Amino acid sequence: MPKSGRDSQGPPIAAVARDMERTVSVLIADDDAAVREALADLLSEESSITLVELAATADEAIEIAARQRPHVALLDVRMPGGGGPRAAREIAVRSPQTRYLAFSAREDTAAVYEMLELGASGYLVKGAADREIVEAIHRAARSQLSMSADLATACFRELLRDVSERKKTELALLELVRKAGHDREELLVHLVRAQETERLRIASDIHDDSIQAMAAAGLRLQQLRKRLRTAAEVEALDRLEDAFQGAISRLRHLMFNLRPATLDRSGLAAALQAHLEQMQSGTVVVELENHLTAEPPPETRVILYRITIEALANVQKHSGAHLVLVRLENDDQGWRVQIDDDGSGFTPNGNGSAPGHLGLTAMRERAQIAGGWWKLESHPGAGTSVAFWLPAVPNLTLPSQQALPSPA
Ligand SMILES: Nc1ncnc2c1ncn2[C@@H]1O[C@H](COP(=O)(O)OP(=O)(O)OP(=O)(O)O)[C@@H](O)[C@H]1O
Ligand SMILES: [Mg+2]
Repeated sequence: MPKSGRDSQGPPIAAVARDMERTVSVLIADDDAAVREALADLLSEESSITLVELAATADEAIEIAARQRPHVALLDVRMPGGGGPRAAREIAVRSPQTRYLAFSAREDTAAVYEMLELGASGYLVKGAADREIVEAIHRAARSQLSMSADLATACFRELLRDVSERKKTELALLELVRKAGHDREELLVHLVRAQETERLRIASDIHDDSIQAMAAAGLRLQQLRKRLRTAAEVEALDRLEDAFQGAISRLRHLMFNLRPATLDRSGLAAALQAHLEQMQSGTVVVELENHLTAEPPPETRVILYRITIEALANVQKHSGAHLVLVRLENDDQGWRVQIDDDGSGFTPNGNGSAPGHLGLTAMRERAQIAGGWWKLESHPGAGTSVAFWLPAVPNLTLPSQQALPSPA
C-alpha cells in the first residue's frame, strides 16, 4: 500500500484529481481553417478544457497569449509570421506560465528538435487521435512531456543514425591522425638514416681524400726541407709544418666526431670515454660509469652514442657544470644511459626544445623512433639529468659501418 498517495509512475494522485477538476484554458493557433475548427469542436466538447481564442498566424497567437495568458497554447509549427518557433519564443516572454504543444502536419524531425529546444511540452502530429490530443493538453498543463509515438521513434532513429555516423567520422579521423603519426615516424626514420649515411660519407671523404691530399703535401714539405739553406728558412718551414699538422689533426677530429671509428672498433664506452676526454678541461670533471655487461649491437650503439653526445653538447654549451657523470647500464631488456650535470639547470619547456632549438627534441625523437624512451629533469640551480632507454633490438636500421682510423 503506497504511503504517500503517489503511484509509482506519475504525479501524486491528489494532484491529478485537482488537475481533473481544474479546467485548462487553451489557445489554438493554426493557419489551416479546417484544422482549427476541428480542433475547436473537439476541445469544446471537453468539460475540463476552456477554449480561449483561435489564431491563424504567429502574430495573432502571440497577441492572444499575452492578453489571455492561457494554460496551454497549441501551436502549428508552420504558420505565417514565423510559425510555431517564433510564437513560442514570444509567448515565453509575454506569458511565461503558458505551456505550449507543437502541432504539425509533417513528421518533420528538424522542427521537432527546434520546438523541443524552445521548451515545448510536446509534439503532436496532425491526425493524432482525439484522446491523444486531449491527454497531451492535460499533460502539458502539468508540465509533462507528450510526443506522438511515431514521431518519437523517428527522432530516436535519427539520433541513433547521427550517433553512429559521428562514431564513423571519429574513427575515420582517428585513422587519419594515426596515419599522419605513422607517416611522420617513417619520415623521421628516413631522416635519421639519411643523416647517418651522410655523416659516414663525409667522414670517408675526409679520410680518403682530404687527409690523403694533406699527407702528400706534407711529404713535399719534407722534401723542401732538404733544399733550405738558412736558419730563418728552416724556422719558417717548422712553423708551416706545425700549422699543417694542426690542420690535419683538426680534420681527424672532425672525422672522428662525424663517425668515431672507436665506436665501431672498441665499443660505446670507449667512444664516449674518448669524447669525454676531449671535454675534460681545468674546471670540468667528467666521469664515465660503465656497467654494461655486453656491447650493444652496432645500430643501437650508434643511436646511444648520438643521443649521449647531444646531451653532452648541451652540458658543454649551457650548464657551466663542474661535474658531469655518464652512466651506462643494461636495463629491462635494453640499454639505459643517464647523463647528470651539476650545472645551472633550467625550467624545461613542455615536451621538447623551444622554437629554433633542436637538441632536446632530436634526442627524444631518436629514442622514440628506435622504440625507446627519453626524459629530462632539470630545475634552475639544481643541475640537469637526461636519461634514456633503447630496446635491445631497435626499430631503426642504420647504414652499416666502415672501418675508419682513430683520431690522431
Ligand atoms: N644541461 C643543460 N643545462 C642547462 N640548460 C640546458 C641543458 N640542456 C638544455 N638546456 C636548456 O634547454 C635549451 C634547449 O636545448 P636544446 O638542446 O633543445 O637547444 P640548444 O642547445 O639551445 O640548440 P641546438 O641543440 O639546437 O643547437 C637550451 O637552450 C638551454 O637553455
Ligand atoms: Mg642543444
